[in-house]
Amino acid sequence: MSNKATASKAKGLDVGTSRLVLARPVENTYQYEGQLNAFISLPYSRMTAGMLRREGILFSVEGSTILAYGNRVEEFANILNGETRRPIRTGLLNPAEPKSLQMLELALTKMCGKAQDGEKICFSIPSGSPNNQSDVIYHERTITQILEKLSYSVKSLNEGLAVIYAELERASFTGLGISFGGGMCNVCLAYLGLPVVTFSTPQAGDYVDYSASSVTGQTPTTIRLHKEEQFQLNGFSGNNIEQAITVYYNDMIRAVVTGLEKALSDRRKLPKFDKPIPVAISGGSAQVRGFRQHLEKEIRAADLPIAIAEVSLAEDPLNTTAKGTLMAAMLDM
Ligand SMILES: Nc1ncnc2c1ncn2[C@@H]1O[C@H](COP(=O)(O)OP(=O)(O)OP(=O)(O)O)[C@@H](O)[C@H]1O
Ligand SMILES: [Mg+2]
Repeated sequence: MSNKATASKAKGLDVGTSRLVLARPVENTYQYEGQLNAFISLPYSRMTAGMLRREGILFSVEGSTILAYGNRVEEFANILNGETRRPIRTGLLNPAEPKSLQMLELALTKMCGKAQDGEKICFSIPSGSPNNQSDVIYHERTITQILEKLSYSVKSLNEGLAVIYAELERASFTGLGISFGGGMCNVCLAYLGLPVVTFSTPQAGDYVDYSASSVTGQTPTTIRLHKEEQFQLNGFSGNNIEQAITVYYNDMIRAVVTGLEKALSDRRKLPKFDKPIPVAISGGSAQVRGFRQHLEKEIRAADLPIAIAEVSLAEDPLNTTAKGTLMAAMLDM
């Protein structure tokens, strides 16, 4: 880690499908600030605008409409029986949302503020798939430009590698980092901090919510609340909501493990690891009870050309990506 003067001029930013998280160094620790990455449109009135201002809720006014952003919009969506809108879908700028850039600029300007002299920021980007590489370029360049407009010196970092920066310093940044998020799962195999293999899968938290909603007739929000508050991953359940969440959770894990088998199948491209490598997992979707154990079982049963040491869940799974990007900014990669 670099000296204090440099460290205080760095920020880390997780640009997630579900949440934006800003990390900054404060004395000897890191401080995190998260916002739900969602917004809602409300009819304009001076009273509504005044109320939002008083409550400290981010918003912009567009003619007869107010676009309100962040943590509190789910409350409004419930009261108004409306749906929240998302600037990001499956890890990337949402092509179906015309206000995505405007809402992200509003949120990033408010959360990050103007850069101090020479201040660095590093933000997370997902891995693309072979058929959407150009979408990742658009996503990466656009967010870079929003942050450069705020005068930051900007870098981006693969989300799986961010997990390794945050969690595997003790292993000299060698191992597997996997983030199980809302829009996707991001996987990185790194050797001494260098990414060897990165890939993503689109089956993550949103996939569980929407797929389970479809087969149970419940709303995705009902599924998500059940999943976050009481679900436990442990085999067949006679309760249809539990059973649907279990099936799609197994599918999420299976997609990552199959992806690993495929991505690592060409042994010639792999470095020689002299000992079993650790696996660090993070992200909101990794928080369900029983998840780590189930994933470990599947990874150990997989046909992988590398030996696996422990599989550990990050201490603070919702802030791990932000922490990794902050470390990357401070190390000035
Ligand atoms: N306790 C919990 N149990 C299960 N799932 C949870 C829990 N808490 C949050 N989640 C789920 O985690 C997901 C959000 O995770 P996270 O904040 O890591 O995603 P993100 O970084 O915004 O998205 P992505 O990395 O895919 O772009 C949502 O699907 C949410 O429902
Ligand atoms: Mg994430």
